[in-house]
Formats: sequence, C-alpha cells, structure tokens
Amino acid sequence: MGRAGLPLAAVMAESGIEVVGFDIDEKKVAQINSGENPIGEEPGLEVLVKKHAGQNLKAVSNIGGAKDCTAYVVIVPLFLDGEFKPDFSILDDAFTKVASVLKEGDLVVLETTVPPGTTENRVCKILESESGLTAGADFHLACSPERIMTGYSISRFSEFPKIVGGLTRECTEAVFKFYSIFSKPKTVSDTTTAELVKVAEGVYRDVNIAVANELYTVSNELGVDFFEVREAARHKYCDLHEPGVVGGHCIPVYSRFLMNEHEVPLTKTARLLNDDMAQYYAKKMMQITASGKVAVVGLSYRPGVRETRHTQSHLLIRALRKEGFEVYGRDPIFTPVETEKYFNVPYAENLAEMNGILLSHGIPGLRMQLRELSSRILDVKNFLD
Ligand SMILES: NC(=O)c1ccc[n+]([C@@H]2O[C@H](COP(=O)([O-])OP(=O)(O)OC[C@H]3O[C@@H](n4cnc5c(N)ncnc54)[C@H](O)[C@@H]3O)[C@@H](O)[C@H]2O)c1
Repeated sequence: MGRAGLPLAAVMAESGIEVVGFDIDEKKVAQINSGENPIGEEPGLEVLVKKHAGQNLKAVSNIGGAKDCTAYVVIVPLFLDGEFKPDFSILDDAFTKVASVLKEGDLVVLETTVPPGTTENRVCKILESESGLTAGADFHLACSPERIMTGYSISRFSEFPKIVGGLTRECTEAVFKFYSIFSKPKTVSDTTTAELVKVAEGVYRDVNIAVANELYTVSNELGVDFFEVREAARHKYCDLHEPGVVGGHCIPVYSRFLMNEHEVPLTKTARLLNDDMAQYYAKKMMQITASGKVAVVGLSYRPGVRETRHTQSHLLIRALRKEGFEVYGRDPIFTPVETEKYFNVPYAENLAEMNGILLSHGIPGLRMQLRELSSRILDVKNFLD
C-alpha cells in the first residue's frame, strides 16, 4: 500500500473490485481503513480512499485477511544494496506470504519493476515451493510492470496502456481479463517481455540523458549555450533530453538491473557518465566561486516529490564538499529540520548570503529571488532561461 500500490488499489476499488490492501505498516493500514490517504501529493487519491475505505477497499496487516481473494498483485519496493545489486528480501517475503494463502485458480501478478526474468526464475519458484501448487497449471502467474509516476499515479491508468504478460498463454488471458476491469491492458508474449518493457523505458531515458550531458560538456568547451542548441536542434527526428544528474528510484536503478546481468557497454557508460556529472557541476561551480558557501537548491529528485532517499542532491552535496565548499540546502518541500536530517546540510535561509547556488531543478516559488542572484547560479535545467 505504498506510493505505487495504494493508487492501484484505489483505481481497482473505483472500478467495482473488492480490494484487500495488505501492508506490514500497521499505521498505514489504520489510516486507509479510516478513509485517510497516507500518501500526500497524489491528485485524485484522497477522494478515492475516502469513498471506498471500509467498503471496496479494506486494508489488513495480516495476510490471513486476504485469504479469500482470487487475485494477488504485488507491488513492494526493490532496493539496490551498496554494490548496486538488487536486494530481493522484501519481494521474497511478500511472495512467501502470498503463497501461504494461494489457492487453485488464483491469479498472481508482479507489478514491481524487476530485473527481466524475475517472475519466471524467482517468483515462480517461491510460490510453487511455498504453496505446493504449480504455476500455469494450478494457478496463473503474470507480470504487469507499474507505469506510474509520483504525482500522476491515478491519471496514468487511463493514459498509459498497462502491459501484461503471463507465464503461459492461459496466464496471459487471465491477467488480461482481470486488468481489463480497471485499465487498458496490452498483452505481450510472456512475463520476461513485460519486465523488459519497463526496464527498457528507463534505460532509454538514462542513455539519452547521457547524450545530453555529453553535448552539454561539449557546448561548454565550445563556449556555446547547450540549451540554445537543444531548442534549435529539435524536430521530428531529434529531441534531446535535459542534461543533469539523474535521481529517482527508477531510471538509475533500471540501468543497474541490466548492468548486473548482461554485457551492456552503452548502458554502463551512460549510467557512470550521468553519475559523474555531479563532479562536473561541482568543478563548474569553481568558475562562479573558488570557495565559500554554496547552496544546492532543489533537493528532491523532481520538483514537488517528497522523496529523500533516491535524490541526486546527495551526489551533488558530496561532490561540492569534495571541492572544499561549505554546502547548504534548500527546497520548499523540506523544512529546515528535514533538510538537516535527510540531507545532512544546514538550511540556506538567506540565499543572498551564498557565494554560489547550484539550482538542481526549477522552483517556481523562488524564481523572482533567484533571478536577482543569477550571476552566481549554476542552473542545471535552464530554469531561469
Ligand atoms: N512511487 C513511484 O513513483 C514509483 C514509480 C515507478 C515505479 N514504482 C514502483 O513501485 C515499487 C514500490 O514503490 P513505492 O514507491 O510504492 O514504495 P513505497 O516505499 O512508497 O511503499 C512500499 C510499501 O510496501 C510496504 N512493505 C514493505 N515491506 C513489505 C512486505 N514485506 N510485505 C508487504 N508490504 C511491505 C511498505 O510498508 C510500504 O507501504 C517500486 O519498486 C517501483 O517498481 C514506484
């Protein structure tokens, strides 16, 4: 029942399905059952949770409360460890619990984005060994990678086709039928194809951001404005991405999925190049000020997304510190206390006091103030134009 799972459950409930939302977080379960949306910043979600709580949407913290369900959709996080390898512990735990209530004829769907092959090679084994049932024969197993984006999770269900692929043809038919109730599913050949569709989206963007980053550094060497080049180069066959350090729990993670298991020299180069941009920006800051106080403005990975774990500002802060700067932080969605707590930097109360400002992404509320300080700003996304 996280940022990805609760919107999915709410959309299902709205379509008339009786949904049991299982989560280990008891506080969240209680909030949902009392009609309270535990996730902010998700247009449309609050109304749906309030409308369906206690009726079509009931939350439980014990999997036994979901034993009468006939379809199980798993969408828990998959983190990377210190060596960028996926840590499957949460996923394995969730499927072990599903296996404990699995019955003949049920449908099990994996929605979490995973390294291609996970449904067939990992999830299937857990479900079969824990339940004693056989996938494809006794129960249906499928994959439908989530395609949401924080802040647009509800609208994405009507805007994006939902990719579905099953372990067998019957599994694909079962998942298609179920997803047709609340979305517009599009079938692909099998679970691994479905998994790769989602990973491919992220890798495509990572590689294209690397192209933009490379052209950005070339533009700097030539003394031309990359953003002018980008705009003038735009036509049907060329749409350069924005340069920058890539954050979020999707794009940088999905490239790693392929790098861990396959020979992907292009993806690998792009991934490393994009991370190295933090050091590039820190060095470029030296042209604005050789030392002193520098604020990273825009601490979240995308404007307005209250996510502290996967943001590129951690890389930027570290890179600036390496160059000897006294680093501060500011983002309107984080309080001074949160800024210290999650980013380990003091809050930049007075931006005019800063010798340099690394503007990681646009902050509309600060535009006027930032314009006045533009000579000391390194504007990563060309927000101030
Ligand atoms: N949030 C997004 O914008 C977004 C975007 C794209 C993809 N995703 C996908 O969604 C997946 C989940 O991400 P999220 O943003 O929803 O995470 P989240 O941290 O918001 O929520 C995860 C939820 O899982 C629960 N949980 C943890 N361990 C559990 C367990 N063992 N059993 C049951 N529940 C457990 C947590 O209590 C939490 O409520 C990601 O791996 C990713 O594939 C999310």
